Parts: sequence; C-alpha cells; structure tokens
Amino acid sequence: MSKKKQLLLLRIITHVGSLIPLVVMAWDFYFQQLGPEPIRELTFRTGKTALILLFLSLAGTPVSTLGWKIILPLRKPLGLYGFLYVCLHLAIFVVSYGVVSNLFQWQYVWEEALFRRYAVVGLIAFALLVPLAATSTNWAMRKLGKNWKRLHRLVYVVAILAVVHYFWLAKLSEYNKPIFYAVILAVLFLFRLPPVRQRVLAWRK
Ligand code: HEM
Repeated sequence: MSKKKQLLLLRIITHVGSLIPLVVMAWDFYFQQLGPEPIRELTFRTGKTALILLFLSLAGTPVSTLGWKIILPLRKPLGLYGFLYVCLHLAIFVVSYGVVSNLFQWQYVWEEALFRRYAVVGLIAFALLVPLAATSTNWAMRKLGKNWKRLHRLVYVVAILAVVHYFWLAKLSEYNKPIFYAVILAVLFLFRLPPVRQRVLAWRK
C-alpha cells in the first residue's frame, strides 16, 4: 500500500477510534446502561478516554523515533480529541455538582473545584490545554514559528498533572491504575532524552 493510502487509513482509524467512546457513552446514556451512578460513570469514562488520547498523542514522537514516522500527523487529531473529552469531563463535573447535586447553587461547584486538590490540578491541566488546542492550526504554527514547539511541550506538563489528578482521586487499593499511566509517561519521557534518542537511532541504523 502506498504511503498516502496508509496515512489515509490511519487517519480514518484515528477519527473513528476516537469517536467510538463518545458514541458508546451516548448509547449507554440513552438506553440507561450506565449503572447505578450514571453521571459518575460518565465522569470516569470521559476522564479515562481523555487521558488515553493525550497519551497516544504524546506517543507519536517516540514511535516515530522507532522508525514509524507516518504516525506523526496523527498527534494533532489525537490531542484535539483528548481535549474534546476533557471539555466533556469538565462539563459533566459542573453539571453534576451545580445542577444535579446542588440545584443551581453554583457556589458548591466553585468550592469543589477550588478547594479540592484533585480538582485544582485538573483545572490547571485543562487551562494549559486551551492554548494548545487554540494554536493547533497550521496558521498558528506558522505564526508562532519556534515558539510553537516550545508551547506544545506543555502537553507533557498536562500529562503529569493528569496523572497526579488520577492519583489524588484513586483509593489506595486502586493505585495500580494511575501507577500504570505514570510508568508509561516515564517511558515516553525517557524516549525524549537526547542520549536515549540517539541510542535508539543508532540501534535502528
Ligand atoms: C486534563 C484534564 C483531566 C484529565 C485527563 C482527567 C482525567 C481523569 C481520570 C483519568 C479520572 C479517573 C477515571 C477513573 O477512575 O476511571 C478522572 C476522574 C474525575 N475527574 Fe478528571 N481529568 C481532568 C480534569 C478534571 C477537572 C478539571 C475536573 C473538575 C474540576 C475533574 C473532575 C473529576 C472528577 C469529579 C472525577 C471522578 C471522581 C470520583 O467520583 O471518584 N477532572 N479524571
């Protein structure tokens, strides 16, 4: 298969794969298959999907170092879909605290969001993702030049904050899940270190 066709296929897989969790969530919501705590279940699902998509986007560069350069253009849609799920995650949080639990008493949303450490790191991660999503266009890339790359390194900070958010939410008995993501993040970081990168490139040759 030509490179162009391969990329098209990968793009289709990326878009369809990223939208499937949303379709399943909508389906389960409509047919009331979200269990006894549907809003909590939606919070979990959107949070986890966001995390996975952000990690997949981050994995683009290390995987290209291993020789699979074709996946580089997929980092952008994966990151943007990740941002979409973070927006849904936050929206569900606001609706669940502000509308469902406290009947439009918005001060409870602020209290929960600003006085709980898990929510504060989540909000910082969200705030950092906003400029990244806003500058994801080719136009912004051209305008920002070298600064674009610098700015988009923030995605690593977002990933760290997201893992911390997960740690602070999990019960001690469930730490294995955030630990799993922390280990993957550490491996992705490792691949970015120049000596490791050079070794991988030398090994490929
Ligand atoms: C980049 C941003 C964020 C990411 C990647 C993220 C990811 C996650 C993940 C992975 C979970 C755990 C899912 C599970 O246990 O299966 C979670 C749970 C949760 N997140 Fe976030 N989150 C983000 C931002 C936020 C923000 C800004 C808020 C609200 C201020 C928030 C509120 C919550 C809540 C309420 C839960 C569930 C807590 C519970 O009921 O146990 N998250 N999030």
